[in-house]
Order: sequence, then structure tokens, then C-alpha cells
Amino acid sequence: MKVLIADAFDKSGIDALKQAGCDVIVNPQLKDDALRQALKETRCQALIVRSTKVSADMLKTAPALELVIRAGSGVDTIDVAAATDCGVRVCNCPGTNSVAVAELTMGLMIALDRKIVDETDDLRHGLWKKQEYSKARGLKGRTLGIVGLGRIGYEVTKRAQAFEMNVVYSDVIANEKVERELGIRKVPFEKLLEESDFVTLHVPGGAETKHMIGREQLALMKPTAFLINCARGGIVDEQALADAIENGKLAGAAMDVFEIEPGANEKEFKDPIPKVPHVYGTHHVGASTEQAQAAVAEETVRIVRTYKESGELLHCVNKPAEVLA
Ligand code: MLT
Repeated sequence: MKVLIADAFDKSGIDALKQAGCDVIVNPQLKDDALRQALKETRCQALIVRSTKVSADMLKTAPALELVIRAGSGVDTIDVAAATDCGVRVCNCPGTNSVAVAELTMGLMIALDRKIVDETDDLRHGLWKKQEYSKARGLKGRTLGIVGLGRIGYEVTKRAQAFEMNVVYSDVIANEKVERELGIRKVPFEKLLEESDFVTLHVPGGAETKHMIGREQLALMKPTAFLINCARGGIVDEQALADAIENGKLAGAAMDVFEIEPGANEKEFKDPIPKVPHVYGTHHVGASTEQAQAAVAEETVRIVRTYKESGELLHCVNKPAEVLA
């Protein structure tokens, strides 16, 4: 089986694919037209990507492509509808990087409460402001609102409870099993926004969640509250967020993902939101710990190997019925 890897991918995964008898082509720089061309020329059957976008155009002109695997959990960088039309199956690696994202979420929560970024910045400028930075509110007993109780929301809950936070969640469906296991309660989305001292987003990106946090929602939050987005950029209306913070309607925010985000291998960052005071930012690295990337690679290899050996598809997001329709 010929496999094209068009993105950064853990070496352990490349070696394992070769050991499984795959003909592996690694070119992490490929994107846009060059990727379309490579799919044609290599006649690969499987494509592995992370941030690299997979468009309808690429899918339509790839002569041998059967499978696209997102080495991560979100599939919003892949035109899944077009893949379905072309009979190409799309798989992801859910759960493999949930702990890493949850860890970053906790880190950002503490960073916001303790203003760690501003403190560091002042120290680097030779300033000592012990009094100003002695006003953190602390996490214990504060309410954390988790929007989306999937695998990441679950891992965040466990960690927040270790900090003795009170966790509430909102989701389109109730997860009674997790409610019972962790002793948390589901509340309406609006109520979560009103009650929470921290709101953290863990829903998928895409049209359904676009600007789920806009002016109206931000207006419901406490002026002392913080917003954390380690999910997808478009979920937050960043102009509305900037206005809310600048007008004192929200204490601050931390973002790992942005409305304007560079693609794979692009170095320039143009999104203006981290320039707003009290907004902290990281470089879409929620899933990027060594252990998470090794786990993602392992799962990706398991998907390829299983498909190669038995034709079975693991974590396929476009169902066979749609492919056959
Ligand atoms: C994911 O969807 O799992 C992450 O966003 C992966 C990534 O960092 O590229």
C-alpha cells in the first residue's frame, strides 16, 4: 500500500508504516497545488495529514486515493463531503491527544488567574510588581464551565476537580454516565456562561459552531471571568472578544487557536487578537506533546495496518452508506 505523508508526523509512525510493508513517501512541505500534483503522480492509496488542508479539487483528481487520515481529532481541514462524493474514506484519531489538550487548558487557566505571561514580561523588562500581581483570585471553589463534554472535556474535568473546582458543562446531548462518574451537572449553555468563572471550549469547529461565542454570549459572562479556547478558531468571534475585554466586560482570554491561523509550514502569524491586553496565546500546540504525537502516530498506523490487512476502517467519519449513496 502506498502512503503519502504530507505533514509533520512522528518518526515512530513512519518506521512502523514501513515495517507494516507500506511504501511510504514523506513530504511534509506539500500543500495546495503541489499536494494535488503529488496525489496524482504518486498514485498513493492513503494520505496522512495534520494541518495540511485537503480540498475537493485534490480529492477529485487523486486517481488511487482510498483513505485520508487526519493525524489528530478534528477533521475540519479536510473536505469530508467531497471525499464522500469521491468514495474516499476519512478517518481520524480521536482521544489520542485529549490529555495533552486538557493539560494545556489547565496551564492556561492558571496562567490567566496568576497573569503569568504579564509577570514574566515585566521581569524581562526589569520591573518588580509584587503588589500588583498579588491579586489572583485562585482556582479552588471557582466554577469552570466546559462547553462540550467529549474526551477532552472529560480530561479537563478530572484535572479541574483535582484543583477543587466546581465543574458544570453544556452539550447538545447529556452524558449521564460521565455525570455520575465525575459528579458534575449539565446546565443550559446560557446558564453556564452566566455562572462560570472560567469557560473552556471543547466542541468541534465548522459551520455549526461558528461564532458560538459572540457578543450576545460574551455579554452573559461575568466581568471577572476568563474564556479559554483550545478547540477551533472560528468558534469565538474575536472582534467581539476584543471589544468585551477592552470594555471591561470580561477579564481576559487564552487562545491556542485563531480565526486567522497559518497553515502547515507557514511562519507568519497575522491574527490581531493576542495584541489585546489580557489575551494570552499559544501556537495551536494543544495536541503537541511528545507523548500525544507518539500516540497519534501509533493510532494512525493502526488505522492503515487494519485497512491494509482486513479492509476494516477504524474511526471513519464518513459512513459507508454515504459513500455508496
Ligand atoms: C486536533 O484536531 O487533534 C489538533 O488540532 C491537532 C493539531 O494540533 O494539529
